Amino acid sequence: MTDELAEAISRRRTFAIIAHPDAGKTTLTEKLLLFGGAIQLAGEVKAKKDRIQTRSDWMKIERERGISVVTSVMTFEYQGNVFNILDTPGHEDFADDTYRTLTAVDAAVMVIDAAKGIEPRTLKLFEVCRLRNIPIITFINKMDRESRDPFEILDEVEEKLALDTAPITWPIGRSKTFCGSYHLAANEVRGSDTEEHTKKVSGPEAVASRLPQNEQEAFIDELLLAREACKPYDQDMFLEGHLTPVFWGSALRNFGVRDLINALGAFAPPPRDQVADVRTVHATENKMTAFVFKIQANMDPNHRDRIAFARICSGRLERGMKARLARTGKQIGLTAPQFFFASQRQLADTAYAGDVVGIPNHGTLRIGDTLTEGEQLVFQGVPNFAPEILRRVRLEDAMKAKKLREALQQMAEEGVVQLFLPEDGSPAIVGVVGALQLDVLKERLSAEYTLPVSFEMSRFSVCRWVSADNPLDLDKFITARRGDIARDLDGDPVFLAQDSFSLRYEAERYPAIKMVAIKEYQ
Ligand code: G4P
Repeated sequence: MTDELAEAISRRRTFAIIAHPDAGKTTLTEKLLLFGGAIQLAGEVKAKKDRIQTRSDWMKIERERGISVVTSVMTFEYQGNVFNILDTPGHEDFADDTYRTLTAVDAAVMVIDAAKGIEPRTLKLFEVCRLRNIPIITFINKMDRESRDPFEILDEVEEKLALDTAPITWPIGRSKTFCGSYHLAANEVRGSDTEEHTKKVSGPEAVASRLPQNEQEAFIDELLLAREACKPYDQDMFLEGHLTPVFWGSALRNFGVRDLINALGAFAPPPRDQVADVRTVHATENKMTAFVFKIQANMDPNHRDRIAFARICSGRLERGMKARLARTGKQIGLTAPQFFFASQRQLADTAYAGDVVGIPNHGTLRIGDTLTEGEQLVFQGVPNFAPEILRRVRLEDAMKAKKLREALQQMAEEGVVQLFLPEDGSPAIVGVVGALQLDVLKERLSAEYTLPVSFEMSRFSVCRWVSADNPLDLDKFITARRGDIARDLDGDPVFLAQDSFSLRYEAERYPAIKMVAIKEYQ
């Protein structure tokens, strides 16, 4: 490893923002980019969303329902660090996409609405982060509005998430009187992020003087209690996922965002080690390795291109280099890797571990793919979830069956749906985790492939990937249950059941068969 490589990698901070819809994720992303210097004026993130929406037909769904479907990445450089924000769709129907994106981050910012506390999506996403030991920084947003008592919010985080909290700042005032925060360790007052905002103060009284008379005493008591009762920040506990540093602010009114960026720089870890099938890969190894966690098709409808989003796990990616695709063993040329900034893409000449690059391709790359400089290894952990909705696709024009099969295959490779081909030759079944994914499929089949389709109930409602230690057991099961077996995109066998009762029944009848709801790409 060269010094230059180690230095470049140590400056990377790759993170996602997790939040329940409406907590302020979009606003916060925009402000991180604004105060991080990536965009000139707040509003570009939303403006960009609008532009893409009017350009691309299939995203009509997103526009109509006011949800963000697309996952993307945004990069900015601030005070020596390179920050990569991986955006995730907020709607739970696209949860599988979000979970896969979380495999590509080293840290997460958890945004909590100060009036609502921990909401269901926050909890779910937090659990995924915990499974992967992703350290979490908490941002309590909307302090400019009516909010809950700060201690109550901290208690809720501790109880519902079993996560210790260490407030780094403390809010000064509430709703109308909210005017910034107090940095507990530095004894500094933070005003608005738009101003020269740091002011050293001598004690709580000096801070309280910023508040109306009737709130001052309560604030002083609160600050003393916060100092006494709250845990101090501990970097090791944070990195292990046992403790979260907490910041208070308002993304909309520009409070607390700079402190959050600084915390990401100071606390969030540089690129983590990644577990592969044969060994663990360290970020600072010389050789480049990467995995694909997301495919986005038709970002530019004029060039039917597909962008594979690849997280670099180690080393340095140079434009023009060749990489080995583990799934096929074939070499692919990385001729036009791209970086994504707030409002544009740019060719990536050099990218380092921690960075995410978009690799344009015409179907060569799939979700879960591993790229290396030649070594045979496969990164583990990119999940594939057993769909909760199974449907048969009905074509209005039966002559187009072949075209439909190709289109479904492509959609499945992108991760829009999962495709199951029954062993008995009956028509393909598509599976999704959330119903909105079916809407996206229908819209895209019609817009991009002129294939109007409808969906029919299938007699199955549950599916599980099946395997066995002894291949003979698996063969026996597949032969016995042929009518209920299908193959996924990789040819792996899947058992389709009518309902969870029959699934349990079969699991008891065939104890040698392992039935799993989550498959990791291999
Ligand atoms: P999301 O991506 O998590 O779904 O949330 P988003 O940022 O879109 O914010 C949801 C709503 O909350 C938006 O209002 C936004 O302006 C508002 N908001 C975000 N941060 C704050 C804050 O710190 N304080 C206050 N008071 N409001 C905040 P909206 O009316 O739904 O959308 P818009 O018309 O403003 O775009």
